[in-house]
Amino acid sequence: MQIVLAQSAGFCFGVKRAVNMAFQAAEEDENICSLGPLIHSPQLVKRLELEGISVINDINAVADQSVIVRSHGITRQEEEYLHAHELKVVDATCPFVKKAQKYAGLLGAEGYSVVIVGEKEHPEVQGILSYVQDAEVFVAADVETAEQIPLGKRVGLVAQTTQAYENFSSIALKLLERSKELRIFNTICDATSVRQNEARELAAAVDVMLVIGGYNSANTNRLARICREIQSNTYHIETADEISVSWFDGIEQVGITAGASTPEWIIREVVVKLEKIRK
Ligand code: F3S
Repeated sequence: MQIVLAQSAGFCFGVKRAVNMAFQAAEEDENICSLGPLIHSPQLVKRLELEGISVINDINAVADQSVIVRSHGITRQEEEYLHAHELKVVDATCPFVKKAQKYAGLLGAEGYSVVIVGEKEHPEVQGILSYVQDAEVFVAADVETAEQIPLGKRVGLVAQTTQAYENFSSIALKLLERSKELRIFNTICDATSVRQNEARELAAAVDVMLVIGGYNSANTNRLARICREIQSNTYHIETADEISVSWFDGIEQVGITAGASTPEWIIREVVVKLEKIRK
């Protein structure tokens, strides 16, 4: 049985950076917490807890602690709160997310009505939105929503970093039809599309596909869905323990991919287990 691991499987740049920053901070500081789970990997969150990093979901519950900000960032108001309470902040916001926040703020300051393409409830979008001051700001998840927005003449557009380019460009086209001036910052990060395209190719070439990552990880769930559409023998697992030997009866090729928040050690354990199965 041949085992093929997707090149892009696992941590993206921003998550890797955040995790490294967290472990480093835990070495230097004993009283530290992350605002929400650092990433959507229960196994990694547990390891961080063992290093002394607790998870606090409510910013008001932070007391005299250092605070790690997750890769998708926080709102401007939360930032101000941490600052006002003189709490030490380890800012692990991904630089690509920072860029989206900055451009949204800039568009608002220059008098554009700002449209953010993304999921309204997502913390990253809430963060980007909070940087728009004294200007109208809207969130559109799809073209239908974009059609309903009461636009001004000058419209500025940014995207949640994990958006699909096709959705972003369709919304941009729709807004172009409806405005006199449209200023676009393409703030999409290609980590997501690179993983998805690779998963598509791999799922089409193998007999079984394993997708590794937290069940609470949206990007892993999306990868599993994409693979399942192409390869019905697709299994979403969190760890190697969930693998069943029977999945590989008579199988010639197995493909593996993993979400952007799946630690490398978990991927390695899966590969090792598969190597044992094929012996
Ligand atoms: Fe950053 Fe892109 Fe990952 S925005 S957190 S590198 S998906």
